[in-house]
Amino acid sequence: MCGIVAYIGNKQALPILINGLRRLEYRGYDSAGIAVFDDGKPCTIKAVGKIDNLAEKLKTQNFDSTFGIAHTRWATHGSVTESNAHPHADCTGKIILAHNGIIENYRELKEKLGANHVYKSETDSEVLAHLIETYYTGDLRKAVLEALARVRGTYGLVVMHADRPGQLVVARMGSPLVVGIGEEEYFVASDATPMLAYTKKVIFLEDGEVADISRTQLHTVNLKDHNVTKHVEEIEWDEAQAQKQGFPHFMLKEIFDQPNVVQDAIRGRYKLEDGTAHLGGLNMSDEQMRSIKRIILIACGTASYAGIVGKYMFERLAGIPTEVDVASEFRYRDPIIDNQTLVFGISQSGETADTLAALKEAKRKGAFVRGIVNVVGSTIARETDGGTYIHAGPELAVASTKAYTNMVAVLLLYALQFGRLNKLSIATGQRLLQALVEIPEKMKSILSQSDKIKELAEKYKNSRDMLYLGRGINFPVALEGSLKLKEISYIHSEAYPGGEMKHGAIALLSPEFPVMAIMTKNQLYDKMRSNVEEIKARKAPIILVATEGDDKAIELAQDVIYVPPTMELLEPLLNTLPLQLFAYHTAVALGRDVDRPRNLAKSVTVE
Ligand code: G6P
Repeated sequence: MCGIVAYIGNKQALPILINGLRRLEYRGYDSAGIAVFDDGKPCTIKAVGKIDNLAEKLKTQNFDSTFGIAHTRWATHGSVTESNAHPHADCTGKIILAHNGIIENYRELKEKLGANHVYKSETDSEVLAHLIETYYTGDLRKAVLEALARVRGTYGLVVMHADRPGQLVVARMGSPLVVGIGEEEYFVASDATPMLAYTKKVIFLEDGEVADISRTQLHTVNLKDHNVTKHVEEIEWDEAQAQKQGFPHFMLKEIFDQPNVVQDAIRGRYKLEDGTAHLGGLNMSDEQMRSIKRIILIACGTASYAGIVGKYMFERLAGIPTEVDVASEFRYRDPIIDNQTLVFGISQSGETADTLAALKEAKRKGAFVRGIVNVVGSTIARETDGGTYIHAGPELAVASTKAYTNMVAVLLLYALQFGRLNKLSIATGQRLLQALVEIPEKMKSILSQSDKIKELAEKYKNSRDMLYLGRGINFPVALEGSLKLKEISYIHSEAYPGGEMKHGAIALLSPEFPVMAIMTKNQLYDKMRSNVEEIKARKAPIILVATEGDDKAIELAQDVIYVPPTMELLEPLLNTLPLQLFAYHTAVALGRDVDRPRNLAKSVTVE
């Protein structure tokens, strides 16, 4: 996720662009850049780090420009450097663009463009500038449309041409873009905050729409260049609401981001026809991969629960014994490791001190050490010898939601890749991938039950304690649901494997001790059902997460949340969502500071 701002009108563009970028800094800020016109010539300035660094560089410049584009970057392809910061240009330096999203087929496109093009960055976005260059014969919109017809992936895009300082072409596919309408001026941005001080009149571009903008005119077309009529809307949001895209908290926005970002985690990383995944960043030959006899997943907090899901996946699909270690324990227990051990560090921030130290220890002992990380260029990403970015975009709420989902999705791809090199059949691989592709739509159907889950939260919010139960791959789901509840609502909760409850936790049960049980239709359904019967007999209130169509579930429980069916190994990608929503709505009902819960930090860089 990145932030884009563009302006065309009669005001000085520079302050609008810089202040706009500051408002979009929440979308990521590893580097930033602007392109404006100085004496009729385009001029691009970039800086690594926060927007303030860019502003500092611009202090000494005196641009007299009423037109320009700007970008704050959240790296996805290419490390955090000035040359990788946007805007990017083609060979002539005349076509200048800022891009938010991922051009999935950029390698292919680069190959087709041939050796005549000179690239200044490692980004997928720059390839797009060169692609537009090949189609440009004086009509910028046509050239952009021709190029986009060949692109696979996502984009929020603003493009300008040095010979046409009165024209801006913008396009959207999967990454948001808003156009603000002023008096003989237009604003473009990733959300409405940069333009709120100037206008409340906006149009929201939809996927597949392109706007061709001059100082006095806005013309919207689809990707086939057919006219599209847009409705002008009046924005009522204040700045904070606009950043959260109308959601009251970042956490809720991030929960609702999941159907989109899970696609970013898997896009371009699997081959349906071969029933396998190919995560190139692993940097291991097939032979090295086949030599792996043991996998250790090291993480903290939510990432460690994603790791437990990964353990089930690696063992089931790849047949490789897999352990999950909480990082702070691993580093002090003298673990047994050799050169047939593969260690993954899983971390949203890529900065967690315990995880980092544990990975260093594993490396010292001769293991293959790789990262599964969200923040590009973070310390864990740099200190491992390869790995995969989960592409969840910036996660701002302290309680992790979408990063967890994307970690699980990437772990599944790894398990498939290892599995297919071992004994996993092509047919099973294909069935899993097909089921994975269907996950985003199924997630949406769960999220549409948010209001119903809110009612449940109201009903149970005064509980002092709660127990979360799950079996098999739903045990880590129970752990994650319980963690979400305790960290943001401060209600004490525990998670147990269903079958283990009778060895301890059952003593706690009473009519005042609600139990959230995950009882979806899988191979352990009957076993879990028996555990739920045991709870019922102790008169504890029961909320079930059950599979759609399981009409008998309600006979066992006070309340049931239904989720769509999927293959068992993929269930965490769905079953975690109602638990996230339950924790969220409970915390809101109790008046908690949902995005910044007490005593917690987003990134824990101390031991
Ligand atoms: C903190 C956060 C958690 C997170 C954990 C691991 O405790 O509050 O939400 O799961 O750190 O963070 P990481 O960035 O390594 O995933």
